[in-house]
Amino acid sequence: MKAIFKKASLLLLGTLMSLAAAQAQNSPLDMDRFIDALMKRMTVEEKIGQLNLPVTGDITTGQAKSSDVAQKIEKGLVGGLFNLKGVDRILEVQKLAVEKSRLGIPLLFGMDVIHGYETIFPIPLGLSCTWDMAAIEQSARIAAIEASADGISWTFSPMVDISRDPRWGRVSEGSGEDPFLGGAIAQAMVLGYQGTDLKDQLHRNDEIMACVKHFALYGAGEAGRDYNTVDMSRNRMFNEYMYPYEAAVEAGVGSVMASFNEVDGIPATGNRWLMTDLLRDKWGFQGFVVTDFTGISEMVEHGVGDLQTVSALALNAGVDMDMVSEGFVGTLMKSIKEGKVRMATLNTACRRILEAKYKLGLFDNPYKYCDVNRPKRDIFTKEHRDVARKIAGESFVLLKNSAGVLPLKKQGTVAVIGPLGNTRSNMPGTWSVAARLNDYPSLYEGLKEMMAGKVNITYAKGSNLIGDAAYEERATMFGRSLNRDNRTDKELLDEALQTAAGADVIVAALGESSEMSGESSSRTELGLPDVQHTLLEALLKTGKPVVLTLFTGRPLTLTWEQEHVPAILNVWFGGSEAAYAIGDVLFGDVNPSGKLTMTFPKNVGQIPLFYNHKNTGRPLAEGKWFEKFRSNYLDVDNEPLYPFGYGLSYTTFQYSDIALSTPTLGKDGSVTAVVTVTNTGKRDGAEVVQLYIRDLVGSITRPVRELKGFNKIFLRAGESKTVSFKITPDLLRFYDYNLNYIAEPGDFDIMIGGDSQAVKTARLTLK
Ligand code: NOJ
Repeated sequence: MKAIFKKASLLLLGTLMSLAAAQAQNSPLDMDRFIDALMKRMTVEEKIGQLNLPVTGDITTGQAKSSDVAQKIEKGLVGGLFNLKGVDRILEVQKLAVEKSRLGIPLLFGMDVIHGYETIFPIPLGLSCTWDMAAIEQSARIAAIEASADGISWTFSPMVDISRDPRWGRVSEGSGEDPFLGGAIAQAMVLGYQGTDLKDQLHRNDEIMACVKHFALYGAGEAGRDYNTVDMSRNRMFNEYMYPYEAAVEAGVGSVMASFNEVDGIPATGNRWLMTDLLRDKWGFQGFVVTDFTGISEMVEHGVGDLQTVSALALNAGVDMDMVSEGFVGTLMKSIKEGKVRMATLNTACRRILEAKYKLGLFDNPYKYCDVNRPKRDIFTKEHRDVARKIAGESFVLLKNSAGVLPLKKQGTVAVIGPLGNTRSNMPGTWSVAARLNDYPSLYEGLKEMMAGKVNITYAKGSNLIGDAAYEERATMFGRSLNRDNRTDKELLDEALQTAAGADVIVAALGESSEMSGESSSRTELGLPDVQHTLLEALLKTGKPVVLTLFTGRPLTLTWEQEHVPAILNVWFGGSEAAYAIGDVLFGDVNPSGKLTMTFPKNVGQIPLFYNHKNTGRPLAEGKWFEKFRSNYLDVDNEPLYPFGYGLSYTTFQYSDIALSTPTLGKDGSVTAVVTVTNTGKRDGAEVVQLYIRDLVGSITRPVRELKGFNKIFLRAGESKTVSFKITPDLLRFYDYNLNYIAEPGDFDIMIGGDSQAVKTARLTLK
């Protein structure tokens, strides 16, 4: 029996090798021929096997070989694995598939490479605040180089879920609240990971397949609670939430991940309208759809059937790969026998997975990503780290800087005080699976190293992260402990005040731990945690200049801080080089240029608060914060603390009025809107020039403004530059009541400025 099996697999190997030669010729025809031939040889069980994506368990020790998963691989019952780290381990496991399984079909190796691999970039929300598409693409490029050097061929990124609710912890993983910007970032990231070729075939071994997620609307969960129900009109979906996913598809993303939530009462994972009618038939998506982690079996909890039913539902909806549920391997055979799933549907899904492998070049060379010499050469290199440091500096947002507290002088004593001041493991930020948690300097260590011989840097913890120890434990999981201090709050504070007494300036390193945002980290209160607030108050009472250096994965409510603290620099979680990048900005070697991509509310009750809202029938009169029987609150005004697009610089910029090339726009014409921006301060700096448009009258109500363009420019002190935006009817289109994508004739306000509120306005008419 064994001998026969061996002979058969040798024969097949021979066939596959000649087919691999066909792959090298690289045309869609060759791919089809290759896959036709391969699928003819596959049993139904093996076809189902390709749709199976189990987790490998312990990613740091790599248990795949000796586990149950290994046996399944040998039986051809696995299509890919994820979150297994290390090229040696991946090579071993790939050998199992290629050399031990009957048909030798190589595996995909996926990973959550979300904002870098070992060289870590800022969390995506921070990255988006750079508004720098070249930098964002480069971050994805470097992530792809490093991940592929370690055996990874597939990343579960970009995450493009629009969210307007900072209670949701996963806002840290996305690009904020705006679909136009989110779409541009989605495209830059897909390009960075995949290069330009994945539509045909990847030739290089340092480009990897991207996966846009979480399709769809995952960022709109009720009350900001993770995994919660979503209910949304089609109109809002298409005008405000769908574009970033569509943009990624346009850019040729190889795969799409289904979201956990329901869409229109049907879980996304089993939603045929979403996965087939929209994604494939309307948008023309050609790749494959993978579920999220246990997305199929969770449909049992959603209440739409037992495992067999929901597995069939998912496949029939257009889902191709089952992450972890094992619903496909467990039940599809039965469903096919019972006529609940057609063989043709299984064939289609299997083909899509094989096509992805083909396009990645894995049939040509299954060990393409297993060059054991690459990690040393390509991972965590000086060159990559330098780029990460530069990009981190660009992501920080200067929220306040009164009396020119910043930049700091490179002299005297600077005290770093706060629970985030001396933690290595919290620097990279959430969702950094491959991070070297102990190898990145803490803020204190980084500043000390940079300022050696110039500035005396001292440190005190000052407080724990949160008064409640159990809450702190929940907020510092996955090896990101802040090593809770057993001293009393008073003892910690006294030590901090003593350290502060010897300093000229205090850098208060406060905010969230990295795991206070991210998956399953929703919060209902978004102020600085209790003990940190007490610490900050005490530090301010010393009368010394205090710079609040804010670590956070989401917008926080900082109304009190805005009123009382002289300088606030929001540093998000800046990645592996964060400490140095913070030093660059604090001491003025880098002029901050980040602009918020998510509104900061004044309090949690204002949420959801976003810049592109509707006007309502009872808007507040301009300049008022309360009027009876208007759309407002009794206790707080409608305005954000910091609006979308906001961010200060060490210099200042002035905008001229807008000059339109013509005040009217024909159906096929275009108009140019021009402003001159002048750097009116004493330092060179970068400014993000933002274009917003308001459609004044529509067949459906339209937002008060929508971002429709941006341009990041660099201006030397005193320098002026003109910035122009081309406006065509295309830019004025929206989905009407019947979901037709149209531009309606009428008047439009064209607004250009340095944030969504500080704008110059001109009137344009579309004929
Ligand atoms: C669950 C998360 O929702 C998703 O973003 C991630 O890619 C998968 N787990 C795999 O780790």
